[in-house]
Amino acid sequence: MKKYTQISDISNLSETIKEAILLKMNPFEHKHLGKNKTLVMLFFNSSLRTRLSTEKAAKNLGMDVMSLNVNDAWNLEFEDGTIMNAGTSEHVKEAAAVISQYADMIAVRAFPSLMDRDKDYAEMVINSFEKYATVPIVNMESATAHPLQALADAITISELSEKARPKVVLSWAPHPKALPQAVPNSFVEMMIKMDVDLTITHPEGYELNPEITKDTPINHNQEEALKDADFVYAKNWSSFSDYGKILNTDPNWMITKEKLGQAKFMHCLPVRRNVIVEDAVLDSEQSIVMQEANNRTYAAQIVMKEILENL
Ligand code: CP
Repeated sequence: MKKYTQISDISNLSETIKEAILLKMNPFEHKHLGKNKTLVMLFFNSSLRTRLSTEKAAKNLGMDVMSLNVNDAWNLEFEDGTIMNAGTSEHVKEAAAVISQYADMIAVRAFPSLMDRDKDYAEMVINSFEKYATVPIVNMESATAHPLQALADAITISELSEKARPKVVLSWAPHPKALPQAVPNSFVEMMIKMDVDLTITHPEGYELNPEITKDTPINHNQEEALKDADFVYAKNWSSFSDYGKILNTDPNWMITKEKLGQAKFMHCLPVRRNVIVEDAVLDSEQSIVMQEANNRTYAAQIVMKEILENL
């Protein structure tokens, strides 16, 4: 692997999942790989899991880690040819090249504006780092994708599925704020590559990018969609068609124990209790959100291991 900015950077998904599960049993086996190598993590936005699990993964591989909250540095310019006489102080051309002198790998988190769909889906931040850095880039959640989360989700389903082809339902759930489509986009993209029976359920108007969902069945009746599910993945996202807008806050879309049936409950976290999902689900044995969060480490570790092997 040369970089991990999108799921398609994984050449053999089933092999990568298998190797990640093996890494869990012996996480320090490849500590020599990262000796004298440095990961620089750049955060344009908040994080708990991604920051800590990626750092832990890098340290398991023997790497040194430096982390920068980009808002504490100079305001970056991303447009070409700008006369920089206003709010931005440094161009990404210089910033990415400079950071590349300090790092062997750069991981970037940068959320969307949710104001301009074309701009967000052009992925200017992560693509600019990929263009101007001279070291591999890892996506820690960009405007439209969260491929490390999706890999952790795939590992979790592979580990915990009791069926060869489980029924997986991605369900929209309400949230008071407009949220990105990155997590559901990557989850759908990943599930399409796996041997699962995937259904998406959401209120009308919340269709994700059809280039991502392709021919995945969409059911606007949540209870019908959830019937006989093995895994229910809850997530809020804002509208793709009426870009970035909240069109529905109906609390009846919250996941309850009754709706969940016998399924296992998944969410990328952080999750708003009793808004996205009721306490009775999160506090039950059916919730596998902790296993998912734990797998963030091994998703990051397998990706960085493969990149280190290609440096
Ligand atoms: N799931 C996830 O990416 O969590 P953080 O936003 O806390 O990193």
